[in-house]
Amino acid sequence: MVETDGPDVCACERCPALVESRSRIVNGVGPDDAALLFVGEAPGAQEDEEGEPFVGRSGSVLDDALRDAGLARADVRITNCVRCRPPENRDPHADELDNCAEFLEAEIAHVDPDLIVTLGKVPGERLLDRSVAVTKEAGSVVDARLGGESRRVLICVHPAATLYDRSQRDGFEDAIAKAADLGGASADGGGQSRLGDY
Ligand code: URA
Repeated sequence: MVETDGPDVCACERCPALVESRSRIVNGVGPDDAALLFVGEAPGAQEDEEGEPFVGRSGSVLDDALRDAGLARADVRITNCVRCRPPENRDPHADELDNCAEFLEAEIAHVDPDLIVTLGKVPGERLLDRSVAVTKEAGSVVDARLGGESRRVLICVHPAATLYDRSQRDGFEDAIAKAADLGGASADGGGQSRLGDY
């Protein structure tokens, strides 16, 4: 059974292991018309508890980088490839990513962002449909065909990677600053999208 309300999924039992491990479905948050859409992998423990993506330690890293780039968390849309917490925070399996793909596609179509930022390898490879060397490619803006539309995608490392490996921090912050720049943010809150430059 699947029930949706706009881009939100209210009830879904497609993935038996995730139905078992989740407390709730974690939908995307942020404005329906956000210029920037951040896509992570799947909710962790804290996200599962609070029902919101990126509210744990990774979320603090993301929030700090957004703030440093002149953006508030509330200015952007944040979602995940998979909406239910995998057991023991394992990576989502391919069939689980497939099962949830239509919800992410519907959300992308609904929000129609100027730029999608993939946080980590799983969303990068999923949306670009190829293997991605995230650390090497971080900060690159590429085109992807999604739901019949051409979309601009900025590849970024996962914020959690910066917690395990401090050397990833600068690349992560630079990519978020670039996203803010391309999405039209500036420290004074004004500015225009510079996507035409890329
Ligand atoms: N990691 C993710 O990929 N998504 C979240 O929502 C939290 C941590």
